Amino acid sequence: MSVFISGASSGIGEACARNFAANGKDLVLVARRKDRLEKLSTELRERHGIHVHTFELDVRSRKAVEGFIAGNQAVLNTIEVLVNNAGLAAGLSPIQTGNIDDWERMIDTNVKGLLYVSRGLLPLMIKRAAEGVSCHVVNIGSVAGYWVYPNGNVYCATKFAVKALSEGMRVDLHGTGIRVTEIAPGMAETEFSLVRLGDAEKAKAVYTGMTPLSAQDVAETVLWCVQRPKHVNIQELVVFPTQQSSVSLVARQ
Ligand SMILES: NC(=O)c1ccc[n+]([C@@H]2O[C@H](COP(=O)([O-])OP(=O)(O)OC[C@H]3O[C@@H](n4cnc5c(N)ncnc54)[C@H](OP(=O)(O)O)[C@@H]3O)[C@@H](O)[C@H]2O)c1
Repeated sequence: MSVFISGASSGIGEACARNFAANGKDLVLVARRKDRLEKLSTELRERHGIHVHTFELDVRSRKAVEGFIAGNQAVLNTIEVLVNNAGLAAGLSPIQTGNIDDWERMIDTNVKGLLYVSRGLLPLMIKRAAEGVSCHVVNIGSVAGYWVYPNGNVYCATKFAVKALSEGMRVDLHGTGIRVTEIAPGMAETEFSLVRLGDAEKAKAVYTGMTPLSAQDVAETVLWCVQRPKHVNIQELVVFPTQQSSVSLVARQ
């Protein structure tokens, strides 16, 4: 059985790859930074003796995703767990002065990318599930998909969409036996803030005086959900760092 992870070149996706590998699962890893995926796959193959396939893929490109799915059916037919993790926030501005390129980047990655990948892989997973195999989709949403914070507008909207799509998948896959889980993390220190703010110092300041979640904390919740017995589906799991009580309330020392 193999686990497909989008955005496995850093942060939560990479930590998921490490955890599933440590549990003996074969991996199919995609992201744009192929060099990072190669390095990770070499390490995980050597350490855990698993099979790892890596592909350079920009999930924003419908054409690229469709070509990837059509061209790799043999590998993709083994997928039992799909972790839709690739995503980002770009910028932090009021809607009235927001950068439209940033909006498109977030919508194209977090919503359309998740849809392209899911549309390609779900038919294959439905066939596997019909053969009695336990299949599972894990969508990485966010607490930003439950509550909106100032200047979070479009990022929050994309994560509200991930929440709705998770629910939509669950009802549309009704009766197939495929489980669908949405994991909604609060602040996690990954490359997320660097990507969002484009500045290492500003990114570090996001976590000043508080202990954020680590990528590993989030990846452990993903693994835990997947490891529940076949008849148990954790539909949604919201996980905050202890010092973050709500989407915009952080106790800093
Ligand atoms: N960190 C947080 O505080 C936090 C909180 C809640 C939810 N999340 C969500 O968690 C997920 C993972 O983020 P992270 O925190 O681990 O950030 P990260 O370290 O920046 O990782 C993001 C991953 O997504 C990949 N990615 C981005 N755009 C892509 C594209 N167009 N095609 C393919 N892959 C793409 C990146 O790979 P490449 O750049 O190599 O393509 C990278 O592997 C995201 O969906 C994010 O919204 C994060």
